[in-house]
Amino acid sequence: MKIAVCGTQPYDRESLSIINADFGHELVFFEERLTLQSAPLFAGYAGLCCFVNDILDEAVLQILAAQGTRLIALRCAGFNNVDVLAAERYGIRLVRVPAYSPHSVAEHTLALILTLNRKTHRAYNRVRDGNFTLQGLLGFELRGRTVGIIGTGRIGQAVAEILHGFGCQLLGYDMLQNEACQALGLNYVELDELYQRSDIVTIHCPLNEQTHHLINALTLTKMKHGAMLINTSRGAVIDTCAVIAALKTGQLGYLGLDVYEQEGDLFFQDLSSRVIQDDTFERLLTFPNVLITGHQGFFTTEALRNIAHTTLANISHFEKTGECQNEVTRALLR
Ligand code: NAI
Repeated sequence: MKIAVCGTQPYDRESLSIINADFGHELVFFEERLTLQSAPLFAGYAGLCCFVNDILDEAVLQILAAQGTRLIALRCAGFNNVDVLAAERYGIRLVRVPAYSPHSVAEHTLALILTLNRKTHRAYNRVRDGNFTLQGLLGFELRGRTVGIIGTGRIGQAVAEILHGFGCQLLGYDMLQNEACQALGLNYVELDELYQRSDIVTIHCPLNEQTHHLINALTLTKMKHGAMLINTSRGAVIDTCAVIAALKTGQLGYLGLDVYEQEGDLFFQDLSSRVIQDDTFERLLTFPNVLITGHQGFFTTEALRNIAHTTLANISHFEKTGECQNEVTRALLR
């Protein structure tokens, strides 16, 4: 099948091209992200391969449908950037990679927790500068600390497994109870109790209408004073302005982000020679107790290989049968 790959990075081209040797699709790589402005570029492609910050709203889907697109193959798990109901209306089928390596994101979550706690990002610079003082680098033992996991699906479970090894007490909040997490000693509690008891709160639920700004000015007041908040799910689960206010008072002690509400204008690009216009993001960067990575939780060799394989297999299945495996439908919106 002839597929336009939107928003291609060098590593996408490499991993998709290697695995495509087994599938034989015609892949055409575009650096441009899919937006309302760039949509006409993708005319004539029955299939598009998209990523987290491609814009797949009603207006874009309408253009794509008129241009002949029949399949969108998301090379990611989340689909919050897609108007699923509009895609159905325009007859465009959607497939995704529901699980490619939950351990990649879970291990990155731990990297954020450990770095913020033991301040290795600051120690690295200090030692390189010949400054061997320890003032300001004081950490705490994870053993015995209480960690609240919001969303105990694949990634939440992998995080629970690692934290269990650290000797943490585990609390969870999810509509579905995961027996593997319970077997590790994780106790399901209501959100308010999770906020009140946790030293660290880590978010692993999808972004949807229920979870948009789940962490806001009110919920931040319910957390322990000086708690750590980690978000590797989707940026808009957190109200960034409320979090900045809580960091300024010290109510929030540490913040680790791999995702950001307005990341579409920033992440996956080299903006090092430009003046960044997003003042909220720039304010976040000024805090010594904030650590931000640019949506790299998924970024391991194992995950890239699995993403490429499942994406190309999804496309082959549609091409051969007209049916979809790993389809995103309205049923997943509930
Ligand atoms: P999953 O579908 O296995 O687990 C999600 C869990 O969240 C489910 O158990 C579900 O019941 C729960 N959930 C849904 N609504 C909730 C709510 N309102 N409150 C609490 N829990 C709720 O998904 P998986 O694979 O664990 O991924 C989780 C999220 O991680 C994805 O939706 C995606 O946004 C994000 N992600 C981030 C990546 C990164 O590179 N930073 C890479 C991959 C995923």
